[in-house]
Amino acid sequence: MKKAVNAVEDAPQEAEVEAPPAELVTERASTEGSETIRWVDLPLSPEIQRAIAEAGYVSPTPIQQQAIPLVLRGRDVMGLAQTGTGKTAAFTLPLVQRLIGGPRRTRALILTPTRELCVQVEESVTKYARHSPLDVVSVYGGVPIEPQTQALRAGVDVIVATPGRLIDHLERQNVIFDDLEILVLDEADRMLDMGFAPQISAIVKEIPAFRQTMLFSATMPPEVEALARKYLRKPLLVQVGRRSSAASTVTHAVYPVAHNRKSALLAELLNREEHESALVFTRTKSGADRVVRQLELAGIPATAMHADKTQPQRTKAIEDFKSGVIKVLVATDIAQRGLDIQNITHVVNYDVPQQPEDYVHRIGRTGRAAKEGDAYTFMAPDEIAMVRTIERVLGAPIPRVSVEGYDFGTAGADRESRAEGAAAAAPAGKTVITKKRRSIRG
Ligand SMILES: Nc1ncnc2c1ncn2[C@@H]1O[C@H](COP(=O)(O)OP(=O)(O)OP(=O)(O)O)[C@@H](O)[C@H]1O
Ligand SMILES: [Mg+2]
Repeated sequence: MKKAVNAVEDAPQEAEVEAPPAELVTERASTEGSETIRWVDLPLSPEIQRAIAEAGYVSPTPIQQQAIPLVLRGRDVMGLAQTGTGKTAAFTLPLVQRLIGGPRRTRALILTPTRELCVQVEESVTKYARHSPLDVVSVYGGVPIEPQTQALRAGVDVIVATPGRLIDHLERQNVIFDDLEILVLDEADRMLDMGFAPQISAIVKEIPAFRQTMLFSATMPPEVEALARKYLRKPLLVQVGRRSSAASTVTHAVYPVAHNRKSALLAELLNREEHESALVFTRTKSGADRVVRQLELAGIPATAMHADKTQPQRTKAIEDFKSGVIKVLVATDIAQRGLDIQNITHVVNYDVPQQPEDYVHRIGRTGRAAKEGDAYTFMAPDEIAMVRTIERVLGAPIPRVSVEGYDFGTAGADRESRAEGAAAAAPAGKTVITKKRRSIRG
């Protein structure tokens, strides 16, 4: 790969609406003229190459091809690529490479926004480091602190943590970051938004300024990118495709439907299509519980997962969903980022997400690692404007599907709003579904 970096002006594919002011843009790593990189082309040790082969990864994904060489050179990187395209390995593989052979101290910290993602990333690090002598621990809330304390005090090379629990450990001096060299914020835009910013700032104060920092996400709103700059040193932007684009492997559509008809439509769709596994997102915790009750009344077993559940309940829900014991999981935003569950065939936005980025992440829970998936978004009349905002950020219209008997007033209201928000893409055609297509749940 060509090593030079180009200035921002060379950056292709930036959408007009999304382009942040030039002074905020991170220097963009150039991949122009670069050839496809194979695993053997990357200077990763035999132990790591072996773990990659065992994972069954035939070739590195574009974000891996572009980010890994830069991370190996010690550069600060902001890595942006669609959901499900292997960002975890893009930072973990070179991180493991940089640690092996060095002193046995706590040298790397990866922060994630949720407990479930923390566990998943820890499993990834462990998988890629399986032939390397590194100790990895995950540290997250909702479970007893004592076992984590013991693990930290015994000494670890890599910590994967959620911020709140990590701060508890720092306050108890269970861990000291004097030797920390690498900091990764997975789901970086979420970690730097208002909810997490104070915690991240408190943690970063404990870490030496001379370190390598990496930020990864499928989305990065310009205002968050501006905030991110204070954590980065001469960062390189590695961006695959257009910013904030939805995964190309997901077929998504908007279903106009009144609020009080949503659960009936959900049951109808779940009964109509073959759903190996469906993840349904609601805006609120009580909403998730309500949808579960309504589905069960309709004869469709479902489980809720949200922040009012205990951690053992949350963990069991995810495990059962992964193993196929649970076919329909109804969750709040705690499940929207990073989770990599292979067999999710359908994502349903029962409520339209409140942030456009949330839409990208939610529908990205399906269609991962080159597999395909379907995503439905239920849009009530008062949610039309939000759908328009999402379409603007995506830079593409989302097709409308009208289901006979559910679509609220048919096209009228929707069309008016589309005319108002015409800044976005061309109007999408509307498909009308009247007949049953495939058979239903097994
Ligand atoms: N080079 C590769 N070849 C094949 N599969 C891969 C490769 N790299 C990663 N994967 C698999 O792709 C899936 C998605 O990877 P990962 O969870 O890292 O995606 P992501 O880009 O972080 O997505 P998100 O934005 O949703 O967090 C995982 O199951 C992972 O094992
Ligand atoms: Mg990820």
